[in-house]
Amino acid sequence: MKKIIIAIDGYSACGKSTTAREVAKELNYRYIDSGAMYRTVTLYFLDHHVSLTNPKEIEKALSEIHITFVINSKGASETFLNGINIESAIRKMRISEHVSLVSAMREVRLAMVKQQRKLGKERGIVMDGRDIGTVVFPEADLKIFLTADMLVRAFRRQKELLERNDLVDIDEIVDNLTKRDQIDSSRKESPLVKADAAISIDTTHITIDEQVDEVIRLSLTKMIPALKR
Ligand code: CDP
Repeated sequence: MKKIIIAIDGYSACGKSTTAREVAKELNYRYIDSGAMYRTVTLYFLDHHVSLTNPKEIEKALSEIHITFVINSKGASETFLNGINIESAIRKMRISEHVSLVSAMREVRLAMVKQQRKLGKERGIVMDGRDIGTVVFPEADLKIFLTADMLVRAFRRQKELLERNDLVDIDEIVDNLTKRDQIDSSRKESPLVKADAAISIDTTHITIDEQVDEVIRLSLTKMIPALKR
């Protein structure tokens, strides 16, 4: 069967990562969470007090960042920064508060997109983010654009944070998601926009299983073109 590239883009907390992870598991594909990469850069910048207005400091910091993904004993992908597991640290609100500003920077995007393209070289990949179908893999075989109502997204994110023992007020989450959507959609470099060929799925009233099934069904039509008929 043809190995394809699946790009899943959309607003914050629409279920992109969960969908991408489950689709990759079902298809035995590699899953890459591009948002985790931008979150990792943000963690490094904050911890090393990198000035966002100093291009030299930014270039130096980027050259010191080595991001890897390791599959844990439960089959889930965990993010490592220079050999250290930072999966929990990058999910904190502290990172969510700064990540959109960091990822709007040209230098940061160039460095991350280069790594993301390398990871997709062998195809058989599901990548989620904001610019995967538009910039990273414009040639992706299947492009999905996820949306959902704000309150539904905020409650889903609150539940995820709670599962990590992090109790965050719903208003704070709504505020963060709204701000990130705004910055991500209006930035100059690779703004979040739906790719022309992307298929929109509104996840407000459907379950994770339903959205995963739909993406798998669409993937199969790309892997076995005869299925389209
Ligand atoms: O999981 P959530 O939807 O909250 O966000 P994420 O996928 O972890 O991404 C965090 C942030 O990274 C986004 O709000 C964007 O600012 C940035 N990002 C990006 O610019 N481009 C990507 N391909 C992925 C994420």
